[in-house]
Order: sequence, then structure tokens, then C-alpha cells
Amino acid sequence: MNPRGGRYPPPGMGGGGGGRGGGNMYPNPNANPNFQQRNPQQQYVQRNPMNHQQQHQQQHYQNQQQITQQQQWLRRSQQLAASDSSIDEVEKTVQSEALDQSSQDWKARLNIPAPDTRYRTEDVTATKGNEFEDYFLKRELLMGIYEKGFERPSPIQEESIPIALTGSDILARAKNGTGKTAAFCIPALEKIDQDVNAIQVVILVPTRELALQTSQICKELGKHLNIEVMVTTGGTSLKDDIMRLYQPVHLLVGTPGRILDLARKGICVLKDCSMLIMDEADKLLSPEFQPSIVQLIRFLPANRQILMFSATFPVTVKDFKDRFLQKPYVINLMDELTLKGITQFYAFVEERQKLHCLNTLFSKLQINQSIIFCNSVNRVELLAKKITELGYSCFYIHAKMLQDHRNRVFHDFRNGACRNLVCTDLFTRGIDIQAVNVVINFDFPKNSETYLHRVGRSGRFGHLGLAVNLITFEDRFNLYRIEQELGTEIKQIPPHIDQAIYCQ
Ligand SMILES: Nc1ncnc2c1ncn2[C@@H]1O[C@H](COP(=O)(O)OP(=O)(O)OP(=O)(O)O)[C@@H](O)[C@H]1O
Ligand SMILES: [Mg+2]
Repeated sequence: MNPRGGRYPPPGMGGGGGGRGGGNMYPNPNANPNFQQRNPQQQYVQRNPMNHQQQHQQQHYQNQQQITQQQQWLRRSQQLAASDSSIDEVEKTVQSEALDQSSQDWKARLNIPAPDTRYRTEDVTATKGNEFEDYFLKRELLMGIYEKGFERPSPIQEESIPIALTGSDILARAKNGTGKTAAFCIPALEKIDQDVNAIQVVILVPTRELALQTSQICKELGKHLNIEVMVTTGGTSLKDDIMRLYQPVHLLVGTPGRILDLARKGICVLKDCSMLIMDEADKLLSPEFQPSIVQLIRFLPANRQILMFSATFPVTVKDFKDRFLQKPYVINLMDELTLKGITQFYAFVEERQKLHCLNTLFSKLQINQSIIFCNSVNRVELLAKKITELGYSCFYIHAKMLQDHRNRVFHDFRNGACRNLVCTDLFTRGIDIQAVNVVINFDFPKNSETYLHRVGRSGRFGHLGLAVNLITFEDRFNLYRIEQELGTEIKQIPPHIDQAIYCQ
């Protein structure tokens, strides 16, 4: 194991890259029998981020006013008829009525974060206009959803939450950053019976950092429920996990290898686990993970429900789907593949000019936070060192670092402790850091799935973002192929980039 680590310069390992072989995704919606063309014209419902909350605030305000008026009336009555013995009773009645009213108004008492007023694209605004309340979720779950700052379900949440609640298997495809995590976490939390002491849901993800992020989201959404969430991944103490599993766990999030290990030891009992969720499902079905997944499924009951989510589904997923999913409901919201909010550029460079080019980008771009991808561990370490020498703040992360160090970098970068993060494909999938507005492919990826997931690290939840690709002579065919496969245009970088296209 390589104990190298450090905030700036060095380590890493080519993290394996995203999905496999290009050209396999089915961009044609008609290829999917259950795909229904969304008509943005018809389905688009103008989102006014303030409306919903305002309504409740207004209602709360009205209640408060009523209470104040009642109290004023009481005080006046008290002054006028201080001797009247019935006054106490009147006051009690009025107070209890006011209490009833305000306890009904549960939404007004939530601790809702300030609304995000940034511009959002149709990727998340083109909804049917559903409300989370339409799904008859537990009050405590709704409280967690609203306190997370979610006002209304995104398109993928509208499609998958009601279907998942029916118990049907799902294979769902939706663009990066459009809310797939909550699309499966919400039904999972809803279905868990907190009075039953058993693992009822397992969420599988391909990386440890994504496991931490996902378990955190489950905890936040389930904040008002008594659901025990546990995260388990490689790179941590197995003994600690075993000890933890002696305590109640309802929802287990983790990477396949560790969960399989615990299941085989008989420590992690999955006989009551009626829901298996595979996030980044196509990555979980790559040769690296698929054997573990297949073995893990054997520990689940026969009537389990399987939900598969990703932004990319190569046709290779079909075998697994036919073998393990029962009449799956297929959702495909990707009538186009790339995000509407992301502008993509390339700069044609020689290998030895890359650093100079990056320096120019740093000096010209308005970077809020950036993620810079390299194709190997060594290149990540070297580049991070060079960036630091140039005088820019920089962290790096890759799979060959010690887990504690990885966790610290992830945590600190998420909290904005540093502007730039250099990484391998370890961070290509699922990682959600809202402040990232620029992604740079210092090394161009080899396939379109990896490209799509990498650039999807910016422009989260319909926001604007920028992707810049440094292209060498050797990359030119890959550039062309990936553009074709994704049906997108990657333009040559202009001398000046308008901030309005990636900074709102
Ligand atoms: N209904 C909602 N309202 C507001 N924000 C939301 C909503 N749903 C999700 N988000 C936010 O959108 C961001 C992206 O969500 P998420 O990470 O689940 O996307 P994803 O579809 O899984 O993306 P990826 O394919 O990259 O994994 C998160 O910051 C999340 O908090
Ligand atoms: Mg995700």
C-alpha cells in the first residue's frame, strides 16, 4: 500500500475508468419499449422556487397574526374585566386552539435552507408538476425532504418514486446531477419498517466516497425517522463493521466486496432485505464488480425488488437485466445525452504544452471549484505537484491513497477548503459537489461513458458549467468518436469565454 498522500502533489491509480466500450449506449429513445417521449412544451410547469415555501410562510404568518390578535384581545379583556373569573378559561381555550393550529402547520416549523436561486435548465425543471406530498409519504420523511431544500420532485424522481413504491423492479436512466439518488433513497426510506430489526434495503455503489456521500444523504432525508443507516466499504476496519452489525441496521450502503464479505461470514444477514439498489449500475456490472453482485443476490430473498440507476446503460447490461429483474419498469429520460447547462470546449495541444495551457485556463477562467481529471495515478500526483508550484491551491485524490487520507481530501474539498482537485476516474461517477463549475480533462478519456460522467461533475441539478478538454494529436479520433456517440458538439475553445455561460 502506498502511504503517500498529501494535500498537493502526488499519488493515484487509474481508478479503472467509467463504463466500458463506447458506442453501446442506446441514445435512441425508441430502442426502449417503455420510453415515453417527454414533451417539454406540455409537461413543463413553470417552477417558481419561492411559491411553495412562500405559501407556507404566508400561512404561518397568518396563524401568527391570528394568535397575536387573540392574545391582544385577551389582554384587553383582562384589563376590562379583571375581576371576571371566566377569563382564565377563555385564555386556555384560545391558547389550546392556537397550539392545535400551529402543530398542524408542520411545514411552517421546518428548518428549510435558503432557496437556491441560481438558474436551472430544463433537465430538472421540465416536470409534470408533482409535489412530494402526492406520494403519500410518511410525514417524517417529507420533513427530511423539505429540510434538505427539495421543493418538488425532479423529472427522474417523478417517474421512479411512485413506481418504486409499488414494489416493481426498475431500470432507470437519467442525466447526471438530476437527482437519481433521492429517486431511490426516498422510496427506500418510505418502505423501511423501523420497528423491524433487520436490514431491509441495501444500496450498492462502486466507490467508497460515493458510499459515504449516499449514506449521508439517506441520513439527511431520514433525519426525522428512526431508521438506522450504516455505511460499509473496503479500506476500513472489518472488526468495527462486525461490531456495528450487532446493533440494529435497517439500511446498508456500501461497496460490493465488503458487503459480500460480511454476508459470507453470516454477520450481515440479508434474508429480510427486500430491496436491492444498484447505483451506477452499469459500472457495478463491469467485470470488476459483477461476480460479487451475482453472489450477493443469492443472499437476498426470492421476492426482492431490484432498482438499477445510471446515466449510462451500455447494452451489456441487458444480460443481467434479463437474468435478475422481474418485468422491470424501464425509465429512460435521456432523449439527449449531455446536460443542457454544460458548455464543452477543446484545446488542441502537444503533451508538453498541457501545463502551460492549464495555467492559462486558471488565469482566465472564473473557477468556483474545479475537478481536473488525469488518466493515471502517477499523472495525478505529478500534476498536483506542478499546479501547487504554479501557486494555485490544489488537492488530489486517487484509489492508491490511504482511506483516511482520501476521506479527508473529499471532506475538505466538499467544504470548499481548496479550489482545485486533481483526480483519477475515482471521482468520475456520482460525486456531487454543487460548487464545481469547471471540469478539465487534462487527459482525455477513452470512452463516451467516462466522458459523460466526468463532465457531469459540474452543472449539478440543472446549473451551468464548463468542460474543457486538452486534446493531443493521439486523442483526435477519440474526440471525434465521443462527439458522435454522445450526439454533442465539443467546440474549439475561443480566446474569451463569457462568464455568463458557466457562472450563474
Ligand atoms: N428535488 C430536488 N430539488 C432540489 N435539489 C435536488 C432535488 N433532487 C436532488 N437535488 C440535488 O441535486 C444534486 C444532484 O443529485 P444527485 O447526486 O442525486 O444526481 P444524480 O442524478 O445521481 O447524478 P449522477 O449521475 O452524477 O450520479 C444534489 O446536490 C441533490 O441534493
Ligand atoms: Mg448519482
